[in-house]
Amino acid sequence: MNSNPIGIFDSGAGGLSVLKEIARQCPAESVIYMADTAHCPYGGKPQAEVEERARRITEFMLSQGCKLIVVACNTATAAAIAALRADYQVPFVGMEPAVKPASAHSQTRSIGVLATAGTLKGQHYVSTSQRYAADVNICIQAGEGLVELVETNRADSPEAEALLTKYLQPMVEQHIDQLVLGCTHYPFLVNTMERVLPAGVEIIDPAPSVARQCLRMLELHRLQAPVGATPTYAFHSSGTIDTLQQMALAHVLPMNKQIRASFHANTQV
Ligand code: DGL
Repeated sequence: MNSNPIGIFDSGAGGLSVLKEIARQCPAESVIYMADTAHCPYGGKPQAEVEERARRITEFMLSQGCKLIVVACNTATAAAIAALRADYQVPFVGMEPAVKPASAHSQTRSIGVLATAGTLKGQHYVSTSQRYAADVNICIQAGEGLVELVETNRADSPEAEALLTKYLQPMVEQHIDQLVLGCTHYPFLVNTMERVLPAGVEIIDPAPSVARQCLRMLELHRLQAPVGATPTYAFHSSGTIDTLQQMALAHVLPMNKQIRASFHANTQV
């Protein structure tokens, strides 16, 4: 048993889509969430810069006693998780592009992947696609501008609908029946995506399977919090806290009324 917190980070509020599932599946666990708002978005940044941010955040999490770290960001997973695992003792859980289940479920043998440019360039995405989706047509699209819409509370706006129409229409023309969300910000755009996509296209959010992996790792390393423990969640941002706080209140805290939450702006990492 271990009551220390789990560390979870993303470039911004996107990782809350993963935290929401962790809150549901691991209700006794405490959490330190870090949104690197001052450096968001990561998607177009050079790999070395994203890796450096991931190292600094990892060191902050370790200074806070985190027992396991969830890289709740596809871009940072692609850029940094191998280096983090090599250099730090703590167990890490990263994001997996859900190309494997999408390919397994596709009837039309055509799937879409929407992710950041950094994720699509990463070796992890390329090898997963080659391994699990060699026999399906994959329509890939970098979702430039989408993270910014989520971070500025415009996920349901006409701009979001226009941008998603531009990105998803070519996929619809290629008869996709599965859409993989390859960025943790994108689950917050699902309502708008559903307005753009025809009925029958399944949208795959990897968060539930990442939370299951987190649970497995806690068990494997015997790091679970005692059953019935009261969880505390500390939400940090390296910049302003407004969006993070608003989205945490709307999407994460309703998952468990026991959570004691605190919010911290301008955390230096
Ligand atoms: N939510 C992140 C991801 O999954 C970060 C996107 C970004 O900052 O560009 O990739």
